[in-house]
Amino acid sequence: MLLNSVLIEKAKPLDITLKTSDGNRLTILGDSSNHSLDNFAQDVLAGLKAEKKSLSPKYFYDQTGSELFVQITQTEEYYPTRTEKSILDDYSAQIVDKCDKVNWLVELGSGSSEKTDSLLCEFHKKRKTFNYIPIDVSDIIIDSGKKLLEKYDRLSVTGILSDYERGLSLVSKVENGAKLILFLGSSIGNFEPVEIDAFLSMIRQTLGDADFILIGFDLVKDREVLQAAYNDAQGITEAFNYNILKRINRELDGNFDIGKFEHKAFFNEKHSRIEMHLVSKENQTVTIGALNTKISFKYKETIHTENSHKFTPEMIRAYADKAELEVVETWTDPQDYFALCLLRRA
Ligand code: AVI
Repeated sequence: MLLNSVLIEKAKPLDITLKTSDGNRLTILGDSSNHSLDNFAQDVLAGLKAEKKSLSPKYFYDQTGSELFVQITQTEEYYPTRTEKSILDDYSAQIVDKCDKVNWLVELGSGSSEKTDSLLCEFHKKRKTFNYIPIDVSDIIIDSGKKLLEKYDRLSVTGILSDYERGLSLVSKVENGAKLILFLGSSIGNFEPVEIDAFLSMIRQTLGDADFILIGFDLVKDREVLQAAYNDAQGITEAFNYNILKRINRELDGNFDIGKFEHKAFFNEKHSRIEMHLVSKENQTVTIGALNTKISFKYKETIHTENSHKFTPEMIRAYADKAELEVVETWTDPQDYFALCLLRRA
């Protein structure tokens, strides 16, 4: 089948290997290079030895962290996931109509693909054949891919088990048709502004004339609503934040005493972002065996674990302009909590 042959052939130079295949309609390509453990150790060392201590939020997402994140999205306070889903449910038909030539849907960080279902349903209704490329580091894409094939009989799924930078470089090689790239969940908000610029420029290079990208942006709103979303009453976000220390204990032979740190999340208006920190409750020293090092903390010293940027329509337009992208259309919910923006090359 053309879909599979194009991808597998082009994949070779990128060190991608075929992991699983189910007839012709489901192909999973796996990134065989696994540098993640080494990077974790190096990044933890650099982050905790720095003058202002920090850890990259990408390390939240081990098995436990990913499960906790799913639980966060189900709390009453965390509005982004369900709000974005409601926008997709309401406007998928319009989105598909705007993307008239598109026959490939590429999703960066697809997870279980649940949010994408209304879009897939619309595309499947309106196209003779349709191709979905979920890209995720989690092998959840194998099971979710199988389920999608049962539901949509003219759909082909090529899952890419990889981070999205490497996955995207593969997708840029797809030649037979136009694509819509999805970057949902306001994951873009976890990038620093310079990283947003770099990401959008990289996307622009991947987009052809008939291609689009749909990005979910969490919007600026009342401080109380924003802060509550990162301080849920059940303490799930708190557990998610602590998990990064537990992960260091588990994987790098650390001896963090979680009880000696406090979860703190607040809206920093100047930078238009929620900041998450772990605050040391006392002067203390932590040993990390695998790094052969000791880290000292002063009372109230913090480890900055995450920024989650919140956007205004003007900020979104400015980012798009800078990357030479055009905002084709924006869909929001009735409270203007969240925006889905469709962009293409300007
Ligand atoms: C994945 N990301 C968009 C979430 C956010 O809201 O920034 C991660 C998260 N952190 C705490 N709660 C949720």
